[in-house]
Amino acid sequence: MALLPILCYPDPRLHTVAKPVQAVDARIKALIADMLDTMYDANGIGLAATQINVHERLIVIDVSEGRNEPLVLINPEITWASADQQVNDEGCLSVPGIYDGVARASAIRLTALDGEGVSRSLEAEGLLAVCIQHEMDHLMGKVFVEYLSPLKRNRIKSKMLKARREAERA
Ligand code: NI
Repeated sequence: MALLPILCYPDPRLHTVAKPVQAVDARIKALIADMLDTMYDANGIGLAATQINVHERLIVIDVSEGRNEPLVLINPEITWASADQQVNDEGCLSVPGIYDGVARASAIRLTALDGEGVSRSLEAEGLLAVCIQHEMDHLMGKVFVEYLSPLKRNRIKSKMLKARREAERA
């Protein structure tokens, strides 16, 4: 088991646009295992490779109650999104302690490779749809706080920078 360090907002590396995964090989499979370990250890429901400073289109998710239904999405592409949107409070392992409302499509359809490199289509709604859209934003270099007002975002940025300074002093 390997835990990977998670980048924290406002780290500029979180704004890197990820490139497609070229092959689901041993390197990617090891990365998936480490990302799942890291996500479960941090009590997160999703983690994008961007957040561990790997800029390839790879996401791990688990929204199950039992924390035993990992979902791996490689090179995900949304093929349909409902016009209907819902606002949910979101949080992010890269913005610890911050939760705020973001409007997202209530339902989506997508295609992706699974952890074995097999092409899959899936439909998602509810928390899973929110989580997939949030993680796919990470792959585009976007953090959820960028949907909030500039005022809120600046407050969050100051809070994160202050927490980082305090951690460095400790
Ligand atoms: Ni996030």
